Amino acid sequence: MKPSNSANTSVKAKITVTVAKTAGFCFGVDRAVKMVYNEVSKGTPTVTLGEIIHNADVVADLESKGVRVVSSPTEVHSGETVVIRSHGTGSVAYRYLEENGIPYADGTCPFVRRIQNIAAKKSSKDCQVVIIGDEGHPEVQGIAGHCKNEAVILPNADALDEYLKTFFEKHKKTVAIMPQTTYNINSWLKCKAVAESYSGIETFDTICSTTRERQDEARRLAEDSDVMIVVGGKKSANTKRLFDICSAECGHCFLVENANELKMLKMPSGFSYKGDIRIGITAGASTPAHIIKEVKNQMSEKIIMDEDFNFEEAIDASFKKIYTGNRVKGIVTEIHNNEISVDVGTKHTGYVSLDNLTDDPNLKPADIVKIGDEIDLIVLKVNDAEGTVQLSKKKVDAQKDFDDMVKAKEDGTILEGVVTNVVKGGVLALSKGIKVFIPTSQATMRRDEKLEDLVKKTVRFKVIEADEVKHKALGSIKSVLIEEKNAAKAKFWETAAVGDVFKGEVKSITSYGAFVDLGGIDGMVHISELSWDRIKHPSEVVSVGDVLEVYIKDLDKDAGRISLGYKKDEDNPWTKFLAEYSAGDAVTGKVVSITPFGAFVQIIPGIDGLVHISQISDKRVTNVKDVLSVGDEVTAKITDIDAEKQRISMSIKELIKEGAVDDAADDESAE
Ligand code: F3S
Repeated sequence: MKPSNSANTSVKAKITVTVAKTAGFCFGVDRAVKMVYNEVSKGTPTVTLGEIIHNADVVADLESKGVRVVSSPTEVHSGETVVIRSHGTGSVAYRYLEENGIPYADGTCPFVRRIQNIAAKKSSKDCQVVIIGDEGHPEVQGIAGHCKNEAVILPNADALDEYLKTFFEKHKKTVAIMPQTTYNINSWLKCKAVAESYSGIETFDTICSTTRERQDEARRLAEDSDVMIVVGGKKSANTKRLFDICSAECGHCFLVENANELKMLKMPSGFSYKGDIRIGITAGASTPAHIIKEVKNQMSEKIIMDEDFNFEEAIDASFKKIYTGNRVKGIVTEIHNNEISVDVGTKHTGYVSLDNLTDDPNLKPADIVKIGDEIDLIVLKVNDAEGTVQLSKKKVDAQKDFDDMVKAKEDGTILEGVVTNVVKGGVLALSKGIKVFIPTSQATMRRDEKLEDLVKKTVRFKVIEADEVKHKALGSIKSVLIEEKNAAKAKFWETAAVGDVFKGEVKSITSYGAFVDLGGIDGMVHISELSWDRIKHPSEVVSVGDVLEVYIKDLDKDAGRISLGYKKDEDNPWTKFLAEYSAGDAVTGKVVSITPFGAFVQIIPGIDGLVHISQISDKRVTNVKDVLSVGDEVTAKITDIDAEKQRISMSIKELIKEGAVDDAADDESAE
């Protein structure tokens, strides 16, 4: 039930709620908490050396999962694994764990580890280490536990000044001063100022950058807020410092451990607003995201507002929500061997496991991303209790690839893929990780082509269907082939000219000629153009599949007809004959045909000369067949060559007269 404030019920409140970006788990705490949950998930009996964080809810959750809290390694039972919290621990504890073979996971924050190392290095008989911080804080105890001699722990600048006043009178040593990681920055600056008034002092800026940013932001936010809520554990040093910082800047500042405590708060009697309330929320490094959210939700119970105003909605709006299936952007903050951490702009820590980064077994996270990269991700699982989100880059990549496929369908882009196998009704082609089904009717140009011949081949295809819901795509190789053929045809007709020479494959043969593919377009070589010899069928000269060098004899662009020539001039028997023979030459050849007026004698293949009946003998021949038969070999003289009419006259008679040959007519009469 909302309390009422009669002075304000008629006022429409404009409420602005700002949650500090740095509120909640820092990376060091997050890392240590995750280590414990990780051990628990493996079923390992787990103990933490002290409470893993200063947050009762998280500690209780871990206890419910069987995690014990021990104050010393001596309390660890056999078989248990120890997780060292982000605060770290002293060197004695490490030695005990190692000497007793107790397995442990070291969650010491790297910032804390740095101070431990500085303290260990500086502490000597010639140098006194001074730690500025809470004496009882485990981090401070841990740092002191790494010193070779006793460290001095001081709470603030005044105590430091008091200590240093007499130190140099009593000791001939230098001093090394360092604050704990979560110390108040302004208080540390005062300590530094004190240290500078002495000589022989070295100071180390060991406040962690996360703390600096958190405190700076809290200070600015508190300055600008009417009400400031600091959420965190009562034992948490960094939360208490945040509260101190905020209280100094904002008159109405509250420290709560969780949402229940917020309910018990009473607004100060002097608190009022005149239409505007600015509320700021920040939280310590040990505060899980879900607690910050619960606090936000409960705040509506504490503030009086106009009935029309939904305070909860207003606060909700200041939180970026995240749900399973959301597509989000994440900044890479950490890279490990098997996962990366990302900042997704909410109070959760995002994780992308290696198998959600890539399918490639040869790649490690560092091969894929680098710190600071902004990557697109899909939310797989949100765990508000742990403040974690599991995400996948791979799914986004697959989605992106499918988006490309959808776009390719829309704009007709030709894609490439490798045919993996023949399936019922077609083939499957893998393109950018997506299996595309290509139906038989769309796989080849001709039905007689075998689908098996496509397997393992890279094919070009068009997407004819892309189902975004089912992530299924249908492709067509044939449409690409048709398109390519049409483009080749258009180009051919644009440029083709009589005399152009092509090399082309014989695609088919008919009784009147052979059809040759000129690259997308077919031309015909007429039977008469195939050979200088007389042939009865084109198959005497060419076969389907032969590659011929042809030239365009004639083309009709309107009718789309092309006549091709194949015979070459240099092969023309007349050309050969004229080059080798002259009138007067005696030639021996076979009779190839006999007519009533004479006999044809083959001089060379394709060239016959006529021995007229009057030129067969020096005697009178009345019937050629009485003297000569087809196949007879005769020697005759070339008496005349009519190149224009391609006629050759020959005479046996003249050679008889010259005594060069015997008279065949004599042989006939002798018989
Ligand atoms: Fe480490 Fe700083 Fe957090 S020291 S544990 S990152 S507050």
